[in-house]
Amino acid sequence: MEIKNSQTLVITGASWGDEGKGKIVDLLASEAEIVVRFQGGNNAGHTVVVEGKKYKFHLLPSGAIQNKIIVIGNGLVVDPKVLFEELDMLKKEGFKPNLKISETAHIIFPFHNLIDGLEEGKKGDYAAGTTMRGIGPTYCDKMSRFGIRVYDLLDEKIFRTKFEKIFELKRKMYKTLVNSDKDWDLDKEEIFKQYLEYGNKLKQYVINTAYYLNQAIDEGKKILFEGAQGALLGIDHGMYPYGTSSVTWSGGVCAGSGVGPTRINKLIGVIKAYTSRVGGGPLPTELHGDIGHKIREQGHEYGTTTGRPRRVGWIDLFNLKYSIMINHYDSLAITLLDKLAGIDPIKLCIGYNYNGQSLKTWPIQSEIIEKCIPEYIEMPGWEPLPSEEWSRIAKEGYNSLPDKAKDYIDKIEEILGIESVIISIGPDRSDTIIRKSIW
Ligand code: GDP
Ligand code: IMO
Ligand code: MG
Repeated sequence: MEIKNSQTLVITGASWGDEGKGKIVDLLASEAEIVVRFQGGNNAGHTVVVEGKKYKFHLLPSGAIQNKIIVIGNGLVVDPKVLFEELDMLKKEGFKPNLKISETAHIIFPFHNLIDGLEEGKKGDYAAGTTMRGIGPTYCDKMSRFGIRVYDLLDEKIFRTKFEKIFELKRKMYKTLVNSDKDWDLDKEEIFKQYLEYGNKLKQYVINTAYYLNQAIDEGKKILFEGAQGALLGIDHGMYPYGTSSVTWSGGVCAGSGVGPTRINKLIGVIKAYTSRVGGGPLPTELHGDIGHKIREQGHEYGTTTGRPRRVGWIDLFNLKYSIMINHYDSLAITLLDKLAGIDPIKLCIGYNYNGQSLKTWPIQSEIIEKCIPEYIEMPGWEPLPSEEWSRIAKEGYNSLPDKAKDYIDKIEEILGIESVIISIGPDRSDTIIRKSIW
């Protein structure tokens, strides 16, 4: 396939999150002027490793350490405390973050975190195992139009009126959820004062990011859009209710940034060489025994945000095919190929069997998915290599990969009908093979 030149590039996770988006965004940000987050909040945990030094981003775009202009779009829910902590972290590390934050992004308050946990407790088997960062309850207020936006924090009178309403509403909700008349221990005035202060500190960064980004495109600037979570965790096209509350597939870029669909030039989906997932919900290719344990330990599969052990499984090409269809990616980045080394044979899920029949399409309904039996093909694995060897391979390029690893990539491309332009074989920025020019 001919690779087209682009000014706007979107990177999203194609599956359940933690595909290695942070690493890929950091790498490709070197050519961008602006890096934009367009959905989610600090439920995300994006890791970037440069020359052995690790940076973790929850809210700020991963392009921050390439000293790019970083933008928090309108589609996010923002916990100001986390925002300032991340800015401080960057400044301590010697970076000069150039941040723009949308005036219409929504604000997370302490009662959102509280309610997040309480609602989870009511869901029984349908609990997604949230990150408890108040993401769902804040998006819920956004949609029901009770939400408080960034610009509200900048005007004490307006903020007071809206805050009074939402605080009392949430207080009643709290009492219902705990089934008691006992009040919560949140201090209204203290929170109000604190958030007013946040507003004062935020003011310098606040703009209309839709105007800003569209003008930047008019001026020929290159923009990288960084997805959080993954398409299969998304509110519309993911496995409901075991996902998050934002629009995680590539289409979310437009809603969450104010940049129209015809201005988006290229889409890259990030997939792992295997599957991982944090939280609840069916995971048909899940590995419970020794192999799962080995992959989890080799891949250090523990959540960047919550530290929870991630569930791991064989690559699921059946659900990835669905993800690739909805996202209509131009190409893929395949990560963590190095961490599959030493697993032999490797299984690849190519379909699901439901009630004795092979399904033609991925059944999005969780109650059906949990009854599906994966259909596998097997391929031989490759030998484990020390990390220096993987670094050498990254320097030498694609042809130096073990033959079996190349066969594995070929098979993934063949079944998914899409090419891979980036192969990641280690956490460091330099442990990467770029097969074609990306931008
Ligand atoms: P994200 O949420 O998609 O940005 O991914 P996370 O940062 O939560 O999880 C990916 C983990 O894998 C991080 O610890 C990365 O440093 C690491 N990582 C990314 N790509 C590779 C790779 O190709 N090989 C190895 N060994 N680690 C990787
Ligand atoms: P990144 O950007 C993996 C999962 C949670 C839970 C569900 C809902 O690092 O890939 P939420 O707190 O969003 O209401 O939780 O979604 N989840 C993630 N899983 N990676 C993420 O982000 C995630 N963000 C949320 O575990 O099952
Ligand atoms: Mg992550």
